[in-house]
Amino acid sequence: MRSLPLRQNFKNMSHYIAPSILAADFTNLEQDIKMINGSEADYLHVDVMDGVFVPAISFGQNIVKQMHAKSSKPLDVHLMIVDPDRYIKDFADAGAEIITVHYEACNHLHRTLQLIKSLGCKAGVAINPHTAPELLECILEDLDLICVMSVNPGFGGQKFIYNTIQKLQYLSSKIRDRNLKTLLEVDGGVGLQNAEKILQAGANMLVAGSAVFKSESPQDTISQLKGIGNHTLHA
Ligand code: DX5
Ligand code: ZN
Repeated sequence: MRSLPLRQNFKNMSHYIAPSILAADFTNLEQDIKMINGSEADYLHVDVMDGVFVPAISFGQNIVKQMHAKSSKPLDVHLMIVDPDRYIKDFADAGAEIITVHYEACNHLHRTLQLIKSLGCKAGVAINPHTAPELLECILEDLDLICVMSVNPGFGGQKFIYNTIQKLQYLSSKIRDRNLKTLLEVDGGVGLQNAEKILQAGANMLVAGSAVFKSESPQDTISQLKGIGNHTLHA
């Protein structure tokens, strides 16, 4: 499913919500994917962890393929794995719309991004909390998405790291100045308590795991996240 166009210009436009399936019930994934299908979510965020780049192991391409078969939302696949080139074709074949690799895991990032695009996917780069946003300077034009990690990757349910806000301000101004269409995603510790601040800093795509799945009504939480800022944006 490659249906969602990237925003031409996200100023004065709403933002995207990508619930992270990592926080779902793995004994009943179908039920949680159906919940997301019936919600206002724009993407399904899929966290792939290899136990090397990050301590945890999550799931691989075969499970992602099965998720894709059940999902009506495009898949935003976040690869937390070393040497991701080895598996990019597998995740493209599994149905990823966006494939995001980590800046810290790529020796030849430009080549990796070209590989992702050559397979018909949008190419994203994630940066860890310790990684300076300035390091993306020379690659900005090649990115469909930047994922700013607001926790150390590897686990859901962690606390949002606040210097992320400055990184978002920096990156959103670069994207605006260069008139790019790059999506600016934030991943980790995002919820109703901080989403407005994050959007004000220039993000236009929110990943939320625990905030959605641990809430009383996940679909309502997704709607609330989606609705933040609309009153001012469309006033
Ligand atoms: C963390 C993952 C996140 C995680 C977010 O390594 O990349 O996508 O699922 O979970 P919350 O929203 O619970 O921080
Ligand atoms: Zn993620």
